[in-house]
Amino acid sequence: MTLPTPPTRRRFLQSAGIVGGASILAPSLIGCVAPGPRWTRDPFTLGIASGDPRPDGFVLWTRLAPDPLSADPATPGGMSSGGVPVAYEISTDPSMSVLVRSGTATALAEDAWSVHLEITGLPPGRPYWYRFASGAAQSGIGRTMTAPAIGAPLDKMRFGFVSCSNYEVGYFSAYRHLANEQPDLVVFLGDYIYEHVGRRPGVRLHSDGVAAKDLRTYRNRYAQYHTDPDLQSVHAAAPCLMTWDDHEVQNDYANDLSETFDDPAQFLKRRAAAYRAYYEHMPVRPSLSYPNGPDMRLYDRFSFGDLIEFSVLDGRQYRSSQACYARPNNGGGHVETDASCPERLEPARSMLGPAQEKWLFDGLAKATTRWNVIAQDVLMAELRERQSDGRIAHWTDDWNGYPACRERLLRHIRDASVRNPVVIGGDSHTFWANELKLDPGGPTVATEFVGTSITSYGPSYDAWVSYLPDNPHVKFVDSRQRGYVAVEVTPQRMDVAMRVVSDATDPKATLSTLRNFIVEDKRAGPVSA
Ligand SMILES: [Fe+2]
Repeated sequence: MTLPTPPTRRRFLQSAGIVGGASILAPSLIGCVAPGPRWTRDPFTLGIASGDPRPDGFVLWTRLAPDPLSADPATPGGMSSGGVPVAYEISTDPSMSVLVRSGTATALAEDAWSVHLEITGLPPGRPYWYRFASGAAQSGIGRTMTAPAIGAPLDKMRFGFVSCSNYEVGYFSAYRHLANEQPDLVVFLGDYIYEHVGRRPGVRLHSDGVAAKDLRTYRNRYAQYHTDPDLQSVHAAAPCLMTWDDHEVQNDYANDLSETFDDPAQFLKRRAAAYRAYYEHMPVRPSLSYPNGPDMRLYDRFSFGDLIEFSVLDGRQYRSSQACYARPNNGGGHVETDASCPERLEPARSMLGPAQEKWLFDGLAKATTRWNVIAQDVLMAELRERQSDGRIAHWTDDWNGYPACRERLLRHIRDASVRNPVVIGGDSHTFWANELKLDPGGPTVATEFVGTSITSYGPSYDAWVSYLPDNPHVKFVDSRQRGYVAVEVTPQRMDVAMRVVSDATDPKATLSTLRNFIVEDKRAGPVSA
């Protein structure tokens, strides 16, 4: 590790107790020097984060990285040896004056000097503030929360959901604006990083200049994203729930099959590196998610009182192959008609794999909350894409590539009378508001909202609009702007706001609201507000 220069002061939100350069702006209860080395550079360059809020605790995360983009594989993040003490404090007030928990963890080389603290034993349903220190260096202060007790009455909850933040093609103003909303929770739905390097000129460059393929390059990719002040601000503002999509590993991969037809054994080595780097940079629970080679359990369930439960899915690790994968150019998503690829319709195909399907179905059947959100990576609604020759085709990489699995899920939701099921997703860089149906003319079984990208380029709006006549269950589509979705839930209704930034290439982009929808209790489907 490197030695003494003063910690640099970083940009953080300066409202509601989220302050940058906490060693300067907040009184130190950790003391002038916590256990740890004499740092020459700030080790908290990647910010802090919290996640997995439970009624009695949450996960706190940071990673020590005084040289976050170190090109030397022997010194990840500029660290080189041994376990390093990292002190932490948890307070019930933003100025860190009423401590309810403190202690010292050890950041280990094998985890790239990341720290994942599983905090338990705290009272439910209230905000907390936290920070880290090592030696004389201190992190900023973050706000997190414990969930209300299971079944406890809850009148209101606000959350945002986000996806597809490509560092190269824009600035993360959308994250900054979501942080300013001070939500109770942020749900990341995938493409938190992009593994490739610029296909078009962007506004800034991915470090290393190569596609991430091994542990060093995946680590540096995640580290670079975490150096972004707007990304740091959204993590400091609220706890998060995490799932991934494809670009955390490789575009359009499916389980052990790569878009580029790599040998599956080789591809699993790449997936192991990608999953490990993901773990090292996210506030996920080690007791659930500590990676084991190419395997990492991410899907999980989170309840907030009697109001809302989130089933967070993993749509990549366990899915069946891309339909008709074996053909040239079919490694990733592609469009197929029923005649060209009957395999797409096979009943055994699954987006989730049998174990996750069973877990999801069991959880939905037992759910007692007023609202039940399925948080996952890709578009679920059927999308009939009429081709220039008049034939109808479907895209294979989202749920349209796994229609039997979608039908099983929607049938289960209907048969189990799941209350107020709402699916949220990302991936398509497009806002969608959809009715989810088992039959085109039948009743609406569930509601779907998909958020646009934080920065990634949107696909052709004209193409989406041309599909609308064949998809009357699609109530809204727009791929022309970047942003996120802000949701407020009460027992009576869900209010959904599609927020957009003025220009993703402007680091000072302003915010506006593109559209509002509501979902009423016991009435599936989005209603324009
Ligand atoms: Fe994406």
